[in-house]
Amino acid sequence: MNVKEAIETRRAYRSLEDVEITDELLDDLALSASLAPSCFNYQPWRYVFVSDKAILEKMHEALSQGNEWAHKASLIIAVFSQKDLDCVIKDREYFLFDTGMATAFLILRATELGLVAHPIAGYSPKKVREILGIPEEMTVITLVIVGKKSEELNPVLSEDQVNREKARPERKSRSEFVYMNKYQ
Ligand SMILES: Cc1cc2nc3c(=O)[nH]c(=O)nc-3n(C[C@H](O)[C@H](O)[C@H](O)COP(=O)(O)O)c2cc1C
Repeated sequence: MNVKEAIETRRAYRSLEDVEITDELLDDLALSASLAPSCFNYQPWRYVFVSDKAILEKMHEALSQGNEWAHKASLIIAVFSQKDLDCVIKDREYFLFDTGMATAFLILRATELGLVAHPIAGYSPKKVREILGIPEEMTVITLVIVGKKSEELNPVLSEDQVNREKARPERKSRSEFVYMNKYQ
């Protein structure tokens, strides 16, 4: 699968089934994230890879309503960082940007490996910190829910979520977000 194919194949699917989480897979995902560019090569991203069944179950308590589908995760990746780990140039704080890029690399590699890697914002960062021992000063930016796509629709999905399982949500057209030569 080339990069374009990975970009086009990636979807935030919500009907998941179990997949085996090997150390080789975790090495591969970590390496893919680590090769992302970052300001001064500061590499501000931090991850907790959760594959232990008991801790995965505890993580269910941290998920918001509407994210019950994530109970089927075989791996949950907590993505976190803090301002001081990366460049701050006047009002520009790069930690979120750089961590986002590394996480996008990880997600695309997971896609290439035939997995679903679905980032979410619907969780309690406080509970995630408590469960995983992440210090207060770190921002828990996202959880990436990893599994294998199931052909069976997850019965907990809402009608809207079912529709989004079947077709990719619409995107803005180029003219809505690309400006040529000058912003206008
Ligand atoms: C920062 C972020 C937060 C998201 N939060 C949630 C979430 O809490 N629950 C969920 O089901 N999907 C969540 N998503 C997935 C988006 O809804 C999804 O990526 C978007 O609808 C586009 O669909 P696609 O990724 O399949 O193309 C999130 C995605 C991102 C990048």
